[in-house]
Amino acid sequence: METEITTIVKRIQEDVLPEEYSETMKIAGDIIKNGGLVAFPTETVYGLGGDALNVESSKKIYAAKGRPSDNPLIVHICKWESIYDIAEEVTDEAKLLADTFWPGPLTMILKKKDSVPYETTGGLDTVAIRMPDHKGALDFIENAGGFIAAPSANLSGRPSPTLASHVVDDMTGRIEMILDGGQVGIGVESTIVDLTGDKATILRPGFVTEEMLERVLGSVDTDKTILDNNTGERPKAPGMKYRHYAPKGNMYLIEGDEENVISRINKMAEESAKNGEKVGVLCSDEISDRINADIIHSVGSRNDDAEIARRLYRILRDFDDEDVTVIYSESFSSKGIGMAVMNRLLKAAGFNIIK
Ligand code: TXA
Ligand code: MG
Repeated sequence: METEITTIVKRIQEDVLPEEYSETMKIAGDIIKNGGLVAFPTETVYGLGGDALNVESSKKIYAAKGRPSDNPLIVHICKWESIYDIAEEVTDEAKLLADTFWPGPLTMILKKKDSVPYETTGGLDTVAIRMPDHKGALDFIENAGGFIAAPSANLSGRPSPTLASHVVDDMTGRIEMILDGGQVGIGVESTIVDLTGDKATILRPGFVTEEMLERVLGSVDTDKTILDNNTGERPKAPGMKYRHYAPKGNMYLIEGDEENVISRINKMAEESAKNGEKVGVLCSDEISDRINADIIHSVGSRNDDAEIARRLYRILRDFDDEDVTVIYSESFSSKGIGMAVMNRLLKAAGFNIIK
């Protein structure tokens, strides 16, 4: 970045006085209308917002994140009617899904209108749209004119932020403002479903699962590359091909039954330590007492997939702060929201799996 920007941080939690909250929202909205950038909390992860209909704002988002410009942004709206301003065809499937899941952690891909610049969609004729389930996010979008392009508010390649402090670490000096809404509720990014083909297809798994979508639409397809990088196909969401969510240390996922996983992790941790590595282990409460390593982070019970999702990115960032050089992680069930957890873990580990 050429010039360092002064970054204001403002709390928008429930204990903030109404006048102060409104004042903060007005400042944030004005920054966006003037072409600036504001990071804000959503129910999934923190977003890095700019005016989705302003070419210059979208360019600034890519620059602030250090993100490749072929990786399209999600447009966030705060009321249903707004979809007609940016989507060319609002299909019956889109209406049904919005009725059931909006506001919420679901992003829909539809044909775009000319109003949405190619700078926002990474050159595609389609646009990703989502209405977040978060009061602060919705108020911010409204104050900012109704259309906020927002990727996750991390530097490209780092885990998505689940706390305002993560955004402060990555974005200070790069954006005008950070809205601090405390810890997010879900912890992994929204489910992305493509509605532009013959059949609705999940491009990125999230809190809204395949089963939940099938209950509304009948049957849906899932991009095969989500849990497997050997399909010979490319991921359909441009962003999914990048080695996202990567901690600084080399990461390995260990699969197998409990006893084998424990002994394998302990053996590898011991060998790595002998080679001068600083070893981190990511595991469930069920086995953490039996692991020996420099740093052990538990993601919670292996039966509580929502809790694992909520803690995952924070733990990956903690390993970075602790200067861990190698990470061994237990592998989890890929059922339900577990599919989102395993997708992010596999990508963090660059699909290094030890069976
Ligand atoms: O939960 C979320 O979705 C968060 C919060 C901030 O809302 N946002 C988020 O944005 O995760 P981002 O930019 O980190 O991820 C957007 C993903 C990328 O993988 C991108 O390739 C895909 O959405 N995407 C966006 N527009 C698309 C399009 N038109 N077609 C296919 N994939 C698209
Ligand atoms: Mg992201």
